[in-house]
Amino acid sequence: MRPGMGGWGCLLLTVAEATLVLLTRPPGSWGVHIIGGHEVVPHSRPYMASVHFRGQHHCGGFLLHAQWVVSAAHCFRNRDPLEGLVVLGAHDLQAPEPTQQVFSIKQAFIHPNYQPSSHANDICLLKLNSSAVLGGEVGLLKLPQKGSRQPKAGALCRVAGWGFRSDFEDPPPALMEAEVRVLGLDACNSSWCGQLSPAMLCTRSGDNQRRGFCTADSGGPLVCGSRAHGLVSFSGFWCGDPKYPDVYTRVSAFVTWIRGVVRKDLRGTTTAPCPGPPGPFQVLAAHCPGGTLRPREGAVGTPRPYTCVSPHASRTPTTPGPELGPP
Ligand SMILES: *[C@@H]1O[C@H](CO)[C@@H](O)[C@H](O)[C@H]1NC(C)=O
Ligand SMILES: *[C@@H]1O[C@H](CO)[C@@H](O)[C@H](O)[C@H]1NC(C)=O
Repeated sequence: MRPGMGGWGCLLLTVAEATLVLLTRPPGSWGVHIIGGHEVVPHSRPYMASVHFRGQHHCGGFLLHAQWVVSAAHCFRNRDPLEGLVVLGAHDLQAPEPTQQVFSIKQAFIHPNYQPSSHANDICLLKLNSSAVLGGEVGLLKLPQKGSRQPKAGALCRVAGWGFRSDFEDPPPALMEAEVRVLGLDACNSSWCGQLSPAMLCTRSGDNQRRGFCTADSGGPLVCGSRAHGLVSFSGFWCGDPKYPDVYTRVSAFVTWIRGVVRKDLRGTTTAPCPGPPGPFQVLAAHCPGGTLRPREGAVGTPRPYTCVSPHASRTPTTPGPELGPP
C-alpha cells in the first residue's frame, strides 16, 4: 500500500503508450530520450538494432544471431511487424552511414504469453530477410547463461537507445547510453503497487540524478557485464522518475524459449516454420487489414476480445475480431 497515490499512480504504461499521452501535453515539459546518459563512441555497441516503421525509428533491439534480433513485444502492438525494417551498424540514424545494413522482417515471433495489460512476457524475436554481415560495426550480444541468477541489486548495467528527445520527429544526435543500477524486484514491486511479475528486472539511477530509458528505447538491451539481461519494457509517466523505477523484461527467463524458436527454425523443418501459437498482432494483422484493433467495449479479462475498426468505417466498429490472448 502506498499513501498519496496520484491519478497516475501505478498505471502500467509502456514507453510507447506514454508517448501518446505525453504528446497531448505541452512540449518542453519532459525529457524524452535516454535520461541522464551520453552519446556512445560510434559503433562501440555493434549489437544495437533500430526497428523502423515508415522510415522512422520506433524501437530498439539487439542482434542475437546474424539473422535474429530480440526486441519487445509491445513494439508491435497494432502494427504489422512485416512492415518494419531493422537497421544494424548505425550510430546516427539520420546520417547516410556506409556501416548501416538494412533488413526487412521476414517473421516475427511475439511471445505466446505476452500480456499487454500487465506487460508480462514482453519479448519478441524478429527473423531478418537475410543474414547480417558481421564485423566491427555489426556484432552479436549474448544471452545470459541459462538458469543464471539475475544481476544482484546494486549491480551496474547500461542501457542504450535512440529514444526521441521530445516527440517522434526529434531524434537524439546519435546512439545514447546511460549507466544504471539494478534494483531488487521486491522494492521495485512495491513502488509499482505489487503489479510486477517474476520475469521482470528493474533499475534505478543509483544517485539523485534521473537516469534511465524513455520513449522509443523500448526493446533495447540492458547489458550487465557482457550479456543482455534486460529488454526495455515500461516506466513511469515521467521518464527517469525515481518513484517508478524502469522495468525490463528479464531475459534469463526466456533463454529456453528463444533458443527453441531459433533452433527449430535453423533446423529447417520440412513444413513452413511454425511460430507456435500466434501472438496478438499476428492474429490481428490477419483479420484486420489496414484497420486498427481496439479492445471490444465492455470486455474484461484475458483473453480480451478485440474489434477491428476499419479505416473506411464511418464511425462504429465493424467486424468482430478473434478472441486474443494466451492459448
Ligand atoms: C532484405 O530487405 C532489405 C530491405 O527491404 C532489402 O534492401 C534487401 O534487398 C533484402 N535482402 C534480400 C536478400 O532479400
Ligand atoms: C508483487 O507484489 C504482489 C502483491 O504483493 C504479489 O502478488 C506479486 O507476486 C509480486 N510480484 C513479484 C514479482 O514478486
